[in-house]
Amino acid sequence: MRAVDIITKKRDGDELSKEEIEFFIKGYTRGEIPDYQASAWTMAIFFQGMTARETTDLTLAIVDSGETLDLSQVVKVAVDKHSTGGVGDKTTLVVEPLVSACGLPVGKMSGRGLGFSGGTLDKMESIPGYRCDLTTSEFLSQLHEIGLVLTGQTADLAPADGKLYALRDVTATVQSIPLIASSVMSKIIAAGAQAIVLDVKIGLGAFMRKETDAHILATRMVEIAHLAGRKAMALLSDMNQPLGHAVGNALEVKEAIETLQGGGPADFRKHCLEVAIQLLILGGHTEDEETAQQMVFSAIAEGRGWSRFRELVAAQGGDVSFIDHPEKLPTAPLIETIPAPRSGYLSQIHAQIVGETVVELGGGRAKKEDAIDHAVGVVVHHKVGNHVESGAPLFTIHANSTASLEAARIRLLEAHQWSADPVNPLPLFYGSVR
Ligand code: URA
Repeated sequence: MRAVDIITKKRDGDELSKEEIEFFIKGYTRGEIPDYQASAWTMAIFFQGMTARETTDLTLAIVDSGETLDLSQVVKVAVDKHSTGGVGDKTTLVVEPLVSACGLPVGKMSGRGLGFSGGTLDKMESIPGYRCDLTTSEFLSQLHEIGLVLTGQTADLAPADGKLYALRDVTATVQSIPLIASSVMSKIIAAGAQAIVLDVKIGLGAFMRKETDAHILATRMVEIAHLAGRKAMALLSDMNQPLGHAVGNALEVKEAIETLQGGGPADFRKHCLEVAIQLLILGGHTEDEETAQQMVFSAIAEGRGWSRFRELVAAQGGDVSFIDHPEKLPTAPLIETIPAPRSGYLSQIHAQIVGETVVELGGGRAKKEDAIDHAVGVVVHHKVGNHVESGAPLFTIHANSTASLEAARIRLLEAHQWSADPVNPLPLFYGSVR
């Protein structure tokens, strides 16, 4: 078999066999197939798509590129949640400690920023010392000891996803149903959780702009989970505007801390609550939504979610003084609040433009090996539907140079659209797939 023939076959729209997919993934993981051929292959998949059978085979090939954890050795049941990627989506940082504080262990393997969307690992690495490269035995013993793990792909777990993910980020091959489904599901299956809540984002700042595509993606992922013997459901959630207010790594960690401590933006709080409720129900911790909600409320009110987050940071080598005193987290040298240029109702805060602006400020990558600046980002002060007076704070830019600050100011003003007439707020959720 030759990589070039597999690329040609997919480029021409033909269906790949299980063996061809396995050959490609194995070869790429071992470094025998170079990045340029993997880029061509992912681009061919991007344009030609994959059948449900090919997507499942791709997922399982990625899982087989490393080990699969058997969490039943260390906990009775472990749950996980995974988002398909969004702007300002720091849900994991809040939901996982809360669910763990409710008594359900959470073992999670997250990703880095992808295209204009932020990544949980990049956010957590704003905390000095925090390690995202736990070994398998560290993963298992931490899950057993504190019931909470938040790490990244390693040489042991789904290594092919680590390589493909970094490649897709910089080759414009993110927005593809089979590539997203296999990436998300391979990590979840390899990390061993038995019950999974998928947060499938829809809209301007999501990889699926249309509800129909998001529905197909959600259905495929839930089917793959079932084939792998896991319980799964998907929430379809809005990503037309940023989730919460903060977009940018350290800024999002600060917002997550506020939320764990009982504050935080209302939309983000409600979003986290719904995801946590679904995890508690799917994980068999309780049967009804009302009890699940009460559990989450008390985990916040009693500070147990927050303590769990502290334990997580400490267990993975992070310096907890930075989360106890979030003002110590990386801070940009230039911080400027831009006033609203007019009065009116906000009809759009284009999430993709906000996400791209943060990448351009230095908060994401243009090339695989790029370092990121954890301090930079944007805080949007309003939500679609809000009435804003001319001159009131519209957004705040955290930048590391005057040139990038000025470019961000122009783009973010374009991201905000206005109406003289009242505008309905955006829904948080559009439905679910079970
Ligand atoms: N999250 C992932 O893990 N992979 C994707 O492709 C998109 C979001």
